[in-house]
Amino acid sequence: MQFSGSHILSVQQFERDDVERIFSVADRMQPYAHRRRVTGVLDGAILGSMFFEPSTRTRVSFGSAFNLLGGEVRETTGFENSAIAKGESLYDTARVLSGYSDVIAMRHPEVGSVGEFAAASRVPVINGGDGSNEHPSQALLDLYTIRSEIAASGRTIDQLRIAMVGDLRYGRTVHSLCKLLCAFKGVQIVLVAPQALQMPPEIVESLRSTGHKVLESDRLEESIAHVDIVYSTRIQEERFSSQEEADLYRGRFRLNQSIYTHHCEPNTVIMHPLPRDSREHARELDDDLNDNPNLAIFRQADNGILVRMALFALILDVVDQVDKHARDVNWYTGGRF
Ligand code: NCD
Repeated sequence: MQFSGSHILSVQQFERDDVERIFSVADRMQPYAHRRRVTGVLDGAILGSMFFEPSTRTRVSFGSAFNLLGGEVRETTGFENSAIAKGESLYDTARVLSGYSDVIAMRHPEVGSVGEFAAASRVPVINGGDGSNEHPSQALLDLYTIRSEIAASGRTIDQLRIAMVGDLRYGRTVHSLCKLLCAFKGVQIVLVAPQALQMPPEIVESLRSTGHKVLESDRLEESIAHVDIVYSTRIQEERFSSQEEADLYRGRFRLNQSIYTHHCEPNTVIMHPLPRDSREHARELDDDLNDNPNLAIFRQADNGILVRMALFALILDVVDQVDKHARDVNWYTGGRF
């Protein structure tokens, strides 16, 4: 695809070559993300950051990624702080805000809303999550993490073995990740969910029709026995009609160190898009996994910066200028990476 000037709304826009291009640009962002070099390539550019649903990682890492390229961020968070609360349409908001920004990152609770906004925007829009539909930058950073975590065991995304666990019905990160995996070969996927929260059938069908092996299960222990990755997810309580309904499923699949030791292969990598629900009645990933070196959740979150920097550099067409506008950092940066 041509990245410059494009919206990023769904992973279905990407061919395999596009994913590999994003990953190679993300690799080149490491000196900047790791604070060894600073670049001012986007000096003067403005990111409009519009998050109409709760967000920590996605919002802050989009903003930080833009700052790390030298640009500035203008933020709107929540409907209550926006003219949408006064009845303004997405069309009008998009027409106005795209006059104030060079690129926009947006999250909104309704399926299709970010696409509707993008259609009226005069600048590229990146989907930071539209309801239960898609979260393309998360799927890219997840796959980037998978690629780097399994490389040491000599494994690749082709022939990957992965278990996705939890709320597969409403979880947009797993929807996007499954669609992205369709661009690769020979993946074995175990989908572990309660009956009512299974992966939408059209996504299962597109995995099968692109040659991947899909198993569906509602038993955790046996499903995680022969996989490279366990990808756990939170019950998406905000998509349920009541908390009582969400409570039916919370805490249903808990991974802790003892289950990991008894059931997983030694190098199985544990991932989660975060936030993990650490309340007593949920604990999809127990705190006792925190010292497990295969718990990749924080490396996964760190990778969000690299991938989002890559998307900005590609969309704003500055990939080959990043290093020309760079210098070493002045301050102490040791220890973090
Ligand atoms: C996810 C999301 O918002 O879809 N979080 C994220 O962006 N890292 C997952 C979730 O909220 O459970």
